[in-house]
Amino acid sequence: MASTHPQNSAGKPRILVTRKLPAAVEARLKRDYDATFNPTDSVFDGDRLVAESAGHDGILVCSTEKLPAAIIEKLPPEVKIVATFSVGHDHIDIAASKARGLAVTNTPDVLTDATADTTLLLLLAAARRAYEGERMVREDRWGRWEPTGMLGVHVTGKRLAILGMGRIGRAVAQRARGFEMEIHYNNRSRLSPELEQGAIFHEDPEELLTVADFLSINCPATKETHHFLNADRIARMPDGAVVVNTARGSIVHDESLIAALTSGKLAAAGLDVFENEPAIHPGYRDLPNCFLLPHIGSATKETRDAMGFRALDNLDAFFAGKSPKDRVA
Ligand code: 8YV
Repeated sequence: MASTHPQNSAGKPRILVTRKLPAAVEARLKRDYDATFNPTDSVFDGDRLVAESAGHDGILVCSTEKLPAAIIEKLPPEVKIVATFSVGHDHIDIAASKARGLAVTNTPDVLTDATADTTLLLLLAAARRAYEGERMVREDRWGRWEPTGMLGVHVTGKRLAILGMGRIGRAVAQRARGFEMEIHYNNRSRLSPELEQGAIFHEDPEELLTVADFLSINCPATKETHHFLNADRIARMPDGAVVVNTARGSIVHDESLIAALTSGKLAAAGLDVFENEPAIHPGYRDLPNCFLLPHIGSATKETRDAMGFRALDNLDAFFAGKSPKDRVA
């Protein structure tokens, strides 16, 4: 915790805001901080981030700004806190932040529902071939209704395997129970019965895959989960399974997933996140059984406002000399 509360001559901490944020969030920033905005909304690379940070007490970033150890070490000494407008903090080297005494906060809770809603959207869209059907109608290729046409994967009553049963994983389970799905999960530790709500725990994530009629990826991106879903692990899944990812693209090995969707080993995938997004693996674009979204898991007006306010609550606490609620470093 910072013992000093840096302030400019107007008595307000100086904050660099790297991206264009919702109007209500920027209004509160203007009111309470000496804020530097980015009206063009361009994405700063590491060097630009370091340069623009000069003269600021804190920076408010999104997951588009990458802060590996090499960049954290170069940040000017006056920068004491990085508040990220995201629940994920895999774009920030937490160990390097701790080593430098840099506080880091994130925005949990407020995007749980929106992200879980998007997960169900992807699950249903992938299973029921929504991309193919929508295109057929729009391109005037819908010749006639067919009893055996556009057959998808039945959802109701199937087994849903959730990798990562944190807040979002549990919200996905809650929604999937409405489809009478049988919930299986893997998590770093087993949940209490109140949180489990009858979900079946698999200590071994490899074993979870064997029951995954549907797999929903809801774990954080870490060294351990990097490229978790590779060819060997996909081979363990039931034939015709469906994969959904609203967590991070780096958890999936793209070539393996594309090969399994091409061969028919997997029936379909619904993806909101990609490794190296927005420069996604081009192989996904050619797959009709892949429903693709541009990382909109949390993209509702209410959620983005709440994420901004949560980031500001953390900055407020920090500059008031208190412990921010969502401090991760
Ligand atoms: C955000 C997300 O919109 O919060 C996260 O971790 O992945 C998204 O929902 C995005 O990362 C904003 O920085």
